[in-house]
Amino acid sequence: MSTTLSRRTFLSSLGQSGALLAAGPWLRSIGYAQARRGPARAVLMQSRTRADFDRRLLGAFLEHLGRAIYTGVYEPGSPHADANGFRTDVIAEIKQLSVPVMRYPGGNFVSGYNWLDGVGPKKQRPTVLERAWNSLETNQFGTNEFIEWCKLVSTEPLLAFNLGTGTPETAVAYVEYCNVAKGTKWSDLRRSHGYEAPHDVRYWCLGNEMDGPWQMGHMPAREYGQKARDAARQIRVIDRSLQLIACGSSNPAMPTYLVWDREVLEECYDQVDGISLHNYYGNTKDLTGNSTARFLAMNLDMERQIREIAAVADYVQGLRKSPKRLWLSFDEWNVWYRARSGPFTDGNRTFAPKLLEEVYNLEDALLVGGFVNTLLRQSDRVRIACVAQILNVIAPLVTNETSVLRQSTYYPYAWALQYARGRVLDLFVESETYPIAAAGLRADVARDDQVPFVDVVATLDPAGGKACVLMLNRDLESERELVLDWRDATPTRVLACETLTGPDVKAFNTFAEPKQVVPRRLEPPAAGARMTFKLPARSYTVAHLAMNVSPSGTGG
Ligand code: AHR
Repeated sequence: MSTTLSRRTFLSSLGQSGALLAAGPWLRSIGYAQARRGPARAVLMQSRTRADFDRRLLGAFLEHLGRAIYTGVYEPGSPHADANGFRTDVIAEIKQLSVPVMRYPGGNFVSGYNWLDGVGPKKQRPTVLERAWNSLETNQFGTNEFIEWCKLVSTEPLLAFNLGTGTPETAVAYVEYCNVAKGTKWSDLRRSHGYEAPHDVRYWCLGNEMDGPWQMGHMPAREYGQKARDAARQIRVIDRSLQLIACGSSNPAMPTYLVWDREVLEECYDQVDGISLHNYYGNTKDLTGNSTARFLAMNLDMERQIREIAAVADYVQGLRKSPKRLWLSFDEWNVWYRARSGPFTDGNRTFAPKLLEEVYNLEDALLVGGFVNTLLRQSDRVRIACVAQILNVIAPLVTNETSVLRQSTYYPYAWALQYARGRVLDLFVESETYPIAAAGLRADVARDDQVPFVDVVATLDPAGGKACVLMLNRDLESERELVLDWRDATPTRVLACETLTGPDVKAFNTFAEPKQVVPRRLEPPAAGARMTFKLPARSYTVAHLAMNVSPSGTGG
C-alpha cells in the first residue's frame, strides 16, 4: 500500500471548510470522517490501495438443504434438465453471475455427511435420514456431480469435510479421493467411478460451526482445535499447499465468541491458513428495534466482527511467534430472520422440503450492498467470503418448476461480480451521519454511535483502464449528493450507472411480479476528476467508469 496524501493532511484540508466533526470510533475504524452538512465526499487515488481484489471475496454457498440441490441445481424430471439432470436455466443464471468460488456441501449438513454415500453408481447410493434439517437425502447428487456442475457454471469448488460425526481419517480419505492422481485406495476408487483426472480442490473447510450446540459432533474449542490440527497435518502429507480453513465462531452472539477462536487457533494455528466467520442479520426487535435505519448500518457490525476475529488471529500469531498471518473466510453471510425457525427449518423427514425460503425485499438488498462494500473495504484481510446461500435457500435466486426468479438481493451482488476488478482503493470519505442507539438491543449489536449516510467503495483496474464505484445511500427520506474527487486517475467515460431504489423498502419480487425491485438507470454526472452523483433516497448504486490511469501511479 502506498500513500501520497496522508490522512492528517486530507482531514485538515477538509477541516478548512469547518464542516468536520470529531469522528466516533466506528467511523474512524472504516476511514470515514463525519461532516456536519452538505454533500458527502470521497477522495480516490490510484496510488492508494487496500488490496488486490481477489474475486473469491464474492463467492457463494450451496448446501444440501431444502430445495437448494434437489429441484434447484438438480432436477432430472424437469423440462430444463440436461442429460445429467442439472437444470440448465439455473446453470445459465449462475454462469452469468460468474461466481468465483462455491462452498459445498454444508453447512450443518456436512457435520453428519458420509461423502461415500454420494459417490459411485447412483442406483447403489443409499437414501439416508439427514439429521441437520430432518430431511430425506437420496445422495443422487454428490461430490463428482458437484465438481461437474462447477465446471458448467465456471466456479471453483470450496469443499468442507465432516469433522462432526466424521473423523480425521474420513476427512483425509475424502481429500485423497478428490486430489490424488492414482495408485492409492481412494484415488483408484474415484477413477473406478469414471473420474480419471483428480479434481484438484485447493480450498477446504475443516468442518462447520463446531462451536454451535446445534452442530452434530459439537465439542469444546480445544478438542476441535486438536481434531482440526490432526486432520490438517495428515492432509498436508497429501499436499502441503492446500488452503485449510479452521472453524471460527458461528456468530458474535455466541457466549464463547472470541474465546473459541483463540483456543482453536492456539491448538491448530501452525496447520491452518484461514479462519471462518459466519453471521446472519435481521430487521428484528432484538437486533434493530425494527428500525430500517439501524438495519442498514449492520454491515458496520460485520466490519467490527472482521476486526475482532483478525485481532484474535494476530494475537495467536504473536503468541506462537509465527511468520504466518492468517486470512479470514467469511464463508456464510446474509440477511436471514423470517424463515429461521419452526417449520422453516424442519424437513419433517421429506425429500427436498421447502426450507429457509426467505423472501427478500428492498431494504434487504440495500444491506446486501452494504455487506459487499464492507467485504471490499476489508479485502486486505478477508480472502474468501460466501453469500449464504445461492439458490432457493436464503438465496438471491429461486426456482419454481418452470423458471428462475431474481430476488432483490441478486442485484447488488451481481453488480460487484460484474464490475469490480483490479485493486480495492483506500478511500478518504466524509459524510453526514445519523445516530443509532444501543438501548433495548442484543448485546453484540447494542451501540450508541454515528452512522454515515453514504457508504462508498471503489475498485480500479489499471490494466483494463476501468473503475467500479459502489454507493449506498442509507438516508431513508432524501437524496444525497456524493462528490467523487479523483486525484491521480481520471474518469473519461461513464460506461454504466444503475441504481436500486423504490418508494417501499418492504417491496419484493415474486414469480407473478418479478420486477417490483429491479435496477433502473441513474443519470450520471459527466465523467471527470470531480463527479457529483445524486444518490436517490434508500438506494444502492453502481457506476462503471472508463479511466485514464497515470502510468506512474501503479500503487499496490
Ligand atoms: O446457511 C444455513 C445454515 O446456517 C448453515 O447450514 C449453518 O452453517 C448456519 O448455521
